[in-house]
Amino acid sequence: MESLRVLELYCGIGGMHYALKESGVPFHIVAAIDINPTTNQIYRHNFPDTPLWNKTIEGITLDDFNKLCFDTILMSPPCQPFTRIGRQGDIQDPRTKSFLYILDLVPRLSTPPRFILLENVKGFENSSARERLVKMLVECGYTFQEIMVSPTSVGIPNSRLRYFLIAKIATEHTILKTINSSFRGQISDVFPHAAHSDCYELPAVLDSACLGTCQPEDPVEGDPVLYKVETAADAQRKRSQNNNLSVRQIQDFLEAQLEANEEHYLLPPKTLLRYALLLDIVKPTCRRSVCFTKGYGRYVEGTGSVLQCCVETQMESVFTGLDQCSEEVKLQQLQKLKLRYFTPREVANLMGFPQSLSFPVQVTTKQQYKALGNSLNVVVVARLLQLLLS
Ligand SMILES: *[C@@H]1O[C@H](CO)[C@@H](O)[C@H](O)[C@H]1NC(C)=O
Ligand SMILES: *[C@@H]1O[C@H](CO)[C@@H](O)[C@H](O)[C@H]1NC(C)=O
Ligand SMILES: *[C@@H]1O[C@H](CO)[C@@H](O)[C@H](O)[C@H]1NC(C)=O
Repeated sequence: MESLRVLELYCGIGGMHYALKESGVPFHIVAAIDINPTTNQIYRHNFPDTPLWNKTIEGITLDDFNKLCFDTILMSPPCQPFTRIGRQGDIQDPRTKSFLYILDLVPRLSTPPRFILLENVKGFENSSARERLVKMLVECGYTFQEIMVSPTSVGIPNSRLRYFLIAKIATEHTILKTINSSFRGQISDVFPHAAHSDCYELPAVLDSACLGTCQPEDPVEGDPVLYKVETAADAQRKRSQNNNLSVRQIQDFLEAQLEANEEHYLLPPKTLLRYALLLDIVKPTCRRSVCFTKGYGRYVEGTGSVLQCCVETQMESVFTGLDQCSEEVKLQQLQKLKLRYFTPREVANLMGFPQSLSFPVQVTTKQQYKALGNSLNVVVVARLLQLLLS
């Protein structure tokens, strides 16, 4: 098979690049493009030989793109315009501008790419940006498939429901329907549990806490703390996730030699006291965790699960009657669980990144969480690439 010539747009820390490696497909990245200084540092650190363009996409001309002679585009356009929590500016949002520029550009390329893969948040499927994308694909003669997938579908205990579109340019001998139906067949093979024919028919299989929380808005300072209690339905859902043997256990993704460093990741007393009941707590034997977002390690609600290190302590015994306790007793109780954050390495593991991913020393832990939270699940994308290119 000939090497693909890939254009990686909004490359971030290189999630698509790692997915290509993971897929086993021969490839060459002709250019990776992003303007985020932190993720660019990380990308360059891990892929020193890949041409990384620190440029806005709108600043790159048709001519420049033509010169790259790429046959594949992989992209994760900014998702804030489409999240439920974001302002949903859709195509009016300035952050969608570069994506619209690409949609305008593709039909004018001297050779349109043979393959396109796009990743975005749940919510994109309803956007005008998606409508425009589909219109462009149809007009240019692509066949395409849209699906919603979470890493649990590939056995990874992390919810991160995302929209994916894979498109292939139709050759003279193919008709849209045939390719579409063969894609469908293959998608159900790769993701036996994912809905595949149409992204609107999806079962609500995954943690609702994770949906559309790609970029949660920062909490308002001085907001009163709400003590939210888990409902019976939540507890039932978690139990059934933890009993699902098609998904691996959290312990397979933990760092082995963390002991010395564990203190560093324990939740501070202030966080425990304020947010104890909002935490999503998992044990090493669990088969679930919620989506890690860019605010992990800084904000608590909806940013990702925390790990209970002392598994002998019963969560029920700690939380029962907690509200009536003095702060001091409350803290003593909560500390029995030894709750800690997942380390950036562990978050990377749960997102399917290989051990070879590393961070430059000057990138702080918080920046690492942020960069990872904005990235994608490598294993999921690798499977989709295999499907697209097979
Ligand atoms: C990227 O470009 C910006 C603006 O031109 C510049 O300030 C920044 O230093 C550049 N970053 C890198 C890593 O080259
Ligand atoms: C998205 O579109 C589907 C189908 O048109 C609709 O059922 C659903 O309510 C929409 N969701 C939102 C958030 O608009
Ligand atoms: C187990 O997990 C898979 C993948 O997420 C899911 O599709 C399936 O329905 C789950 N099985 C049960 C019994 O919940």
